[in-house]
Amino acid sequence: MINNKSPIKPRTISLFSGCGGLDLGFHQAGFDIVFSNDIEKTVEATYRHNLGEILIKDITEVDIDSEIPNDIDVILAGIPCQPFSSAGNRKSMDDHRGGLFESVMNIIDKKKPKVVLFENVRGFISSKDDKGMPMPQRIENELFEHGYRTYWKLLKASDFEVPQNRHRVIIIGVRDDVKGDFVFPSPISSSDLTVSTVINNSILDDEKFEVWPLSPQAQLLSSYIPAGGSWKNIPDDVLPERLKRIRKEIKRYRSPNFYRKFNLDEIMGTITAAATPENSGILHPFENRRYSVREIARFQSFPDDFKFLGDSIPSKYKMIGNAVPPRLAYHIAKSVLEQVF
Ligand SMILES: C[S@@+](CC[C@H](N)C(=O)[O-])C[C@H]1O[C@@H](n2cnc3c(N)ncnc32)[C@H](O)[C@@H]1O
Repeated sequence: MINNKSPIKPRTISLFSGCGGLDLGFHQAGFDIVFSNDIEKTVEATYRHNLGEILIKDITEVDIDSEIPNDIDVILAGIPCQPFSSAGNRKSMDDHRGGLFESVMNIIDKKKPKVVLFENVRGFISSKDDKGMPMPQRIENELFEHGYRTYWKLLKASDFEVPQNRHRVIIIGVRDDVKGDFVFPSPISSSDLTVSTVINNSILDDEKFEVWPLSPQAQLLSSYIPAGGSWKNIPDDVLPERLKRIRKEIKRYRSPNFYRKFNLDEIMGTITAAATPENSGILHPFENRRYSVREIARFQSFPDDFKFLGDSIPSKYKMIGNAVPPRLAYHIAKSVLEQVF
């Protein structure tokens, strides 16, 4: 792991920490994470092993005064994306998940850090709040009312040494009394980010078989798909009825490309928490299986010495798919360190 020797170690709170992808990047850049929180028990062992203490508790029930430390420089909030998704959640800011955002704002109000960071999916840009206001504008207004100016940008993980096509919106709030505009890091050229860099590296024996098995149906369908292919390679008579119907009216379903199997010379698609073979590029190009836990961790740029602990293999796929790629986080963190501290 990289250990930044910077003498300045901004005191950082991590909310919605998950297994710690965002936190690892900030830690590597020299930030001191003094408090972490997540509601999900399954991330606890992994977070503790790799990064340290974590409080497992619903953030809306955490006592800000007695449980969260003071003298804070940075708040990281990888808030779940659902409160901001317009699909099926029109009252986004009023329901319980919208309440998460209010909890974060309450913590910001009490701790008054120099910098706050929110992370969200690409759809956040076009989603709207309950009054029809675009979410980036809504967040900007909220932060403004709390004394922060906002900078946001859609970043492409593969521009920051991550071997994966993944877009994430990063929103940075800088406290009004901190001088200067925040500039996001510029893309970095990397020599090779293709699937081959991940799967042609050897894997420790005890991690080789840490694989979430495919259902018998997914395994059958996958057996028809060559490296670089997708469900388009599966003959009609093998497809389940649901997929047959979609294929018949493919335009109506916006031409989905299910069961994508990326080839060695392609960049991997977005790793998702659900890791379904239908909707993510989770299929190994040559072996009829999902990628292993270690392989998807590499696609997310976790170093091989970052261990994923716990008994449930699906929960490891979930925490990895939920994470901000640590290399992307590291480059954002370095920019924050250089410009604000
Ligand atoms: C997108 S993930 C965060 C990923 C993390 N920042 C990383 O880089 O690895 C969102 C996290 O919010 C957590 N979460 C959801 N509701 C919560 C709540 N009410 N209180 C605390 N954590 C919550 C989830 O368990 C999940 O781990």
